Amino acid sequence: MDVTTNIKPGNALDVARIRQDFPLLSRKMNGKPIVFLDSAASSQKPEKVIDAISEYYRAQHANVHRGVYQLSQDATTAFEAVREKVRDFINAPASEEVIFVRGVTEGINLVASSFGRKFLREGDEVLITAMEHHSNIVPWQMICEEKGASLKVAPINEAGELIMEEFERLLSDRTRLVAATHVSNTLGTINPIREMVQMAHAKGIPVLVDGAQAAPHMKVDVQELDADFYTFSGHKVFGPTGIGVLYGRAKWLNAMPPYHGGGEMIKTVTFEKTTYAGLPHKFEAGTPDIAGVIGLGAAIDYVLEIGQDAITQYENQLLAYATERLKEVEGIRFIGTARNKASVASFLVEGIHPYDLGAILDKMGIAVRTGHHCTQPLMDWYGIPGTVRASLAFYNTTEDIDRLVEGVKKAVAMLR
Ligand code: ALA
Repeated sequence: MDVTTNIKPGNALDVARIRQDFPLLSRKMNGKPIVFLDSAASSQKPEKVIDAISEYYRAQHANVHRGVYQLSQDATTAFEAVREKVRDFINAPASEEVIFVRGVTEGINLVASSFGRKFLREGDEVLITAMEHHSNIVPWQMICEEKGASLKVAPINEAGELIMEEFERLLSDRTRLVAATHVSNTLGTINPIREMVQMAHAKGIPVLVDGAQAAPHMKVDVQELDADFYTFSGHKVFGPTGIGVLYGRAKWLNAMPPYHGGGEMIKTVTFEKTTYAGLPHKFEAGTPDIAGVIGLGAAIDYVLEIGQDAITQYENQLLAYATERLKEVEGIRFIGTARNKASVASFLVEGIHPYDLGAILDKMGIAVRTGHHCTQPLMDWYGIPGTVRASLAFYNTTEDIDRLVEGVKKAVAMLR
């Protein structure tokens, strides 16, 4: 690809038209048309998602799985239809293996707590990678501490790629679970999950995959990956906040104890003893985020309408363009230069603190994330306080990148 040429609408996606679906993208920030480059933190929402939630509350709301009356049954049907839609979206074998949670953080906490309580013993190990988000570190530390188990960390190289030989070497006969991110939120590295799963399974070890940064950018097929658990958040796939998905292999979910107790997750309750419902309800205590689920369904429809292959292709082109143009900034250092990357450009400029750069970009209407991106151990490994991170979605354009690059150049001139 000739990166000096603007990627025009129609090349892979009609981005000019797509942008009209996102009301927020036409607003201003600090008096300037917004350049939104923080989709890895949370993506913007298309009108169809906003409308689906509003319509649900206007015309369809009742609690699910509880009422004999029509309204409740219709709400239940709509709610369960999204479970099936999610199953199809990630190609899970069965919809009962799709558990609705609040997001990736809750998905991982559920597995750490429930799988950990059942299967972790003193002296056991959980293996993660050096590029994990705090949400895939802290829950494991908590359960390891409780159980007397230890957390092992597979190292990376300077480019931010997992060192596969080291990963394989760390899979010991005491490893009970591997928990790894599919795509790094800070580096953009796409991990070779399939190979990692093959290595782990060869030793009978199940694998949990944090898909928060993968699901918005590429087709995810949990059967192809052969993952035992896969979790993603609604708000990063253009859906609402507060809803997410945990896929789990039925074999494991059936063997694990419930995470939360309460209504809906039971079969029978007496004061002496409770028996639990089957999947997926065993893991869905209490009234779920019904509107969130409806919104997530609309978001999945929207993403599929645009086309996941077209999204991946367009974002790859845009990332290549961003990387080339950012090289024009004197003293720039990219953090995360893996060969296989998705939609994140993380960088530092020599002698300038990332917060100062971010604050000036904000005044120019440019939204980037600065700091450690909830990956403090990774920042420590690189020996840096944080980065400036521009993260892309399919609604971004080369004009957004041009404004970022001009903005960074101006900010650097001001700060030097
Ligand atoms: N994990 C999100 C991010 O990377 C919040 O920004």
